[in-house]
Amino acid sequence: MIDNTSPNTYDELPYHGISYTLSHPDRLATIAALAGINAPPVASCRVLELGCASGNNLIPMAAGLPHSTFVGIDFSQRQIAEGQAIIEELGLGNITLKHLDIREIDETFGQFDYIIAHGVYSWVPPDVRDHLLAVCKRNLTPNGVAFVSYNTYPGWHLSGMLRDILLYHTRNTSDPEQRVTESMALLRLLADTGSPKRTLFGNVVSECADLFHEYLDAAHSQGRHVMLAYDLLARVNEPVYFSQFMDHASRHGLQYLADAEFQSMFFWDAPEHVKHAVRTMTTSTVELEQYLDFFYGRTFRRTLLCHADRVVDRRLKWETLRSMCMRSRAISTDAQSELHSTTAVEFRGPNTGATFSVEHPITKAALIVLAERWPEAVPFEALLDEARGRLNRSEQHLFADQQQEAVYLGANLLKAHCYSRDLVDLHTISPPIVTTASNYPVVSAVARIQARQGNELTNLYHELVNVDPTSRRLIQHCDGTHDRTALIDAMLELSTALAVAPEEDREAQAPLDRDAAAQAVDRMVESLIRSALLVK
Ligand SMILES: C[S@@+](CC[C@H](N)C(=O)[O-])C[C@H]1O[C@@H](n2cnc3c(N)ncnc32)[C@H](O)[C@@H]1O
Repeated sequence: MIDNTSPNTYDELPYHGISYTLSHPDRLATIAALAGINAPPVASCRVLELGCASGNNLIPMAAGLPHSTFVGIDFSQRQIAEGQAIIEELGLGNITLKHLDIREIDETFGQFDYIIAHGVYSWVPPDVRDHLLAVCKRNLTPNGVAFVSYNTYPGWHLSGMLRDILLYHTRNTSDPEQRVTESMALLRLLADTGSPKRTLFGNVVSECADLFHEYLDAAHSQGRHVMLAYDLLARVNEPVYFSQFMDHASRHGLQYLADAEFQSMFFWDAPEHVKHAVRTMTTSTVELEQYLDFFYGRTFRRTLLCHADRVVDRRLKWETLRSMCMRSRAISTDAQSELHSTTAVEFRGPNTGATFSVEHPITKAALIVLAERWPEAVPFEALLDEARGRLNRSEQHLFADQQQEAVYLGANLLKAHCYSRDLVDLHTISPPIVTTASNYPVVSAVARIQARQGNELTNLYHELVNVDPTSRRLIQHCDGTHDRTALIDAMLELSTALAVAPEEDREAQAPLDRDAAAQAVDRMVESLIRSALLVK
């Protein structure tokens, strides 16, 4: 099935994907649980990734879940070979990458609890798309979850204009790298064309170009400009309406479970009358989601699917949280002073600024506990106990009985999660997080390899963390064989080298003295702990 006669563009210009937090089995199992499906336990599951490129999404998952099994397939031999080299270096025995076409997978390939297809569906020809969904049906265990991402209309029509322009602009260039360079240059010109009397067309095109350019500029050091080759310039790029995608999935015996960006399903920002109108004009979740795309012009979706015969129940129940762990770094300036009252205080998420008002004393205490224990994910019952412990006996009248407190706490945390993961994140598993600095800090082996290539590292929650260039180099020494003194020596050596030969785009700085280097090492280790990059 693999066509070896025509060159594979992914072999010529490899696509170095990244880790996608929302595709992690823990995220899929969490959302499945919220939708009433008891998905297989993440700590011992089987995962298949279709079009896994060089395994940058799958390898960190395999490293973090040693008792689960991972199989990735891709028809680019070069990308598979690159991934296999990393797997060998890491000595991982629970992951296999295969050079294979999606169309070659049949029932003999085995059953998987989680099937991931990120960045494939709308970028492959119709027959591959069809096989992709057939695999999601045929090779998925009864309570399994499939994750499929794709570009969506009507939002992508705007990017489609840019695609047409760039395809024309690069029509005489065949070298994929050169096509990217020429397109980047044209995008810059389009973005710069900001005359005060812009036409609607001009406005839209330069807004889009601006967006792409900003994104590609920021990501350039990671080689992510290659994404341009495989999105705007891709040989195949056929966005679909969400409803079309779901029609296709249902023809394969699959049904809609939820969006991997679960919070998007609640359209919190819409005015009340709009919410009401959309709800009355739609008769199913799929229809409602389609209208949301009309309202928000969404360009990309990550859809979770399950077998059509499963009973999906999206009515949220606080009890679901009883078997989960939660994590939060939301802060309230008044929570401590109002801990013992039922006065409402506002908690704010650190990244998005999302806010959440809390009156219930135990919930206030629980959020304080979680912020202190960050980045740990704390099991619900343990959190309830610890939160109760923060309130005095004399204040027991502020809450009813243990059961009632659990209801309030569960409902509050669930509501915060449905609003924003930046307020409360939920997990079915709790990774082995390091919370105190040891004399021999160890950064995960995966992140150490990633740090050789760039500043974006995958943490134990499968999230991307940006580290500064100095930390990125010192991380190579955080392998458990260098103690604090050795790290301070390395920091001194690095700062002396940088003073003589500063990095590109950075000004020369005087070398650090030993005290300053020690402080810098302590700050770095603290930051690695807070970023969930250290392992035991
Ligand atoms: C845009 S890349 C996405 C890579 C990765 N999943 C990500 O999102 O970062 C699409 C990938 O699908 C692979 N692919 C395309 N058609 C395929 C097929 N028929 N069988 C297997 N892999 C295929 C390509 O080789 C490429 O690695």
